[in-house]
Amino acid sequence: MRVVCISAECEPWAKTGGLGDVVDALARAVGAICDEKPPSDHVVQSQVWAGTGAVTGQIPGGVSACVEPPVDVFLPMYRGVTVPENATRTPLAVPDPRAPEGVTEVQLVEFEDRGYRVRLIDHPPAFDRAGYYGDDDGDYPDNGWRFGLLCRAALEALLDDERPVDVLHLHDWQAMPAVLLRDLAYAGYPRISAAAVMVTIHNMAYQGWLSRKQLAGLFGPDEIAQLVGPHADGLLLLREGVKRAELVNTVSPGYAAEVLREDFGMGMEKVLSGLGHRFGGILNGLDTAMWDPATDQALAATYSRGDLAGKAACRRALLTEIGFDPDDGRPVLGMIGRLDPQKGFDLLSGAARDLLVEGARIVVLGTGDLKLVAGLRALAAKRKDSVAVLETFDRALARRIYAGADLYLMPSRFEPCGQGQMIALRYGTPAIVHRTGGLADTVVDVDAAPEDGTGFVFDEPTPVALLDACARAMSHFHAGGDAWTDLQDRGMAIDWSWEAGPAEQYEASYRRAVSLRREQ
Ligand code: GLC
Repeated sequence: MRVVCISAECEPWAKTGGLGDVVDALARAVGAICDEKPPSDHVVQSQVWAGTGAVTGQIPGGVSACVEPPVDVFLPMYRGVTVPENATRTPLAVPDPRAPEGVTEVQLVEFEDRGYRVRLIDHPPAFDRAGYYGDDDGDYPDNGWRFGLLCRAALEALLDDERPVDVLHLHDWQAMPAVLLRDLAYAGYPRISAAAVMVTIHNMAYQGWLSRKQLAGLFGPDEIAQLVGPHADGLLLLREGVKRAELVNTVSPGYAAEVLREDFGMGMEKVLSGLGHRFGGILNGLDTAMWDPATDQALAATYSRGDLAGKAACRRALLTEIGFDPDDGRPVLGMIGRLDPQKGFDLLSGAARDLLVEGARIVVLGTGDLKLVAGLRALAAKRKDSVAVLETFDRALARRIYAGADLYLMPSRFEPCGQGQMIALRYGTPAIVHRTGGLADTVVDVDAAPEDGTGFVFDEPTPVALLDACARAMSHFHAGGDAWTDLQDRGMAIDWSWEAGPAEQYEASYRRAVSLRREQ
């Protein structure tokens, strides 16, 4: 099986958020499976697809023999990306409705690394810019053209490859032009039109709205007429892409169920419900080698299950680093992430004063919209011993907070999957989360399930509910003893790895997508 991912991000070449981590880890994990498993008839057993429940089917395998690597990842070559010396550069002529001659020449920069092939589309007018998606003035108005060019270039490169592609795995709205093009401009090219499409939605909040004028940077007039009705002003790329894909998923079963509802679907609920069992959720894995307190070089001391002495040393070092008293027994609540309304920093800000009264200390690490943490910053100025707001992007410090905090906060209003809560549990730091999406799928409330709990879960995204959950968590922390270490241990025992489940779920889904495409 040959799988080609198209994405706006992939760590370590391009990352602003979880998307980059997930595309890289998924490509590695799926690449390993596709390398191991000869194509064969395959029984797919999937419990995670929403709508009609479990689906079992005999999927024809016997796909193609191995010439190309099993997994490719197409990415824009943004400013500052460094490539290995052995990378090859090949000019590629790409149809481009915006170009005077209708064709733009880009460079395809390719190399194999980490078990998959990276294929960067280098075209400075599109991608050599200050930001990936926009700058201080907002989103780039020509994003449709930019990501359309990425997708067109990917399809052109695939036409030249020796081995046909079985599955196009498209991530988020930036990759949606690929499925629209498959069905329109490339309908006469079996190399492309035979490929099955799997769409993964990492965040429903970004749907890629393009006006008719913006669409002209991406499609010809006839194609636009086919895509947009005579009265519409434009289209949402995500919605159009989802309608044409063989399979669509989001990154946790919980979020997949939520987005079928009006209050979470962000206008996509009807089109997603209409997909029935072709839409579902696959929980992201975590790179458990990269996130491991037993080997983490950023920590003051390493530690592992059953031996948490190192965690105490990490706590002491963190508190010293951020100016808190390391001998003070008050619990330290950590929170890390983009300062974005999705993440619920404002809930923490709203609850902060009461949390201090309850005996908490708070450390926050993040960049973004500082207004969301205005209350916290004001408190931090007055109570340096108890509140720290660190406005920086610092990966090593993030690791020290996961390890050194006593409790980890993730009060997101919605969360397709989330990674911080998994890392925190793996680092022995029980998580306090809002019962939503991937958070609800990964954290079990210890008061509701004393034998299984790994953290504290609250129902309403309000400062009061957050405060209540934190108060419960702090009383468990103060009680300490075996109950507390058992709570930590259960979190640390969970195997979040891609190999433990998600990689095979994707592989099975790819086979299912191939068979759905063949049926058409
Ligand atoms: C987005 C989502 C996050 C998810 C990540 C990777 O950033 O907001 O919940 O974990 O994508 O799939």
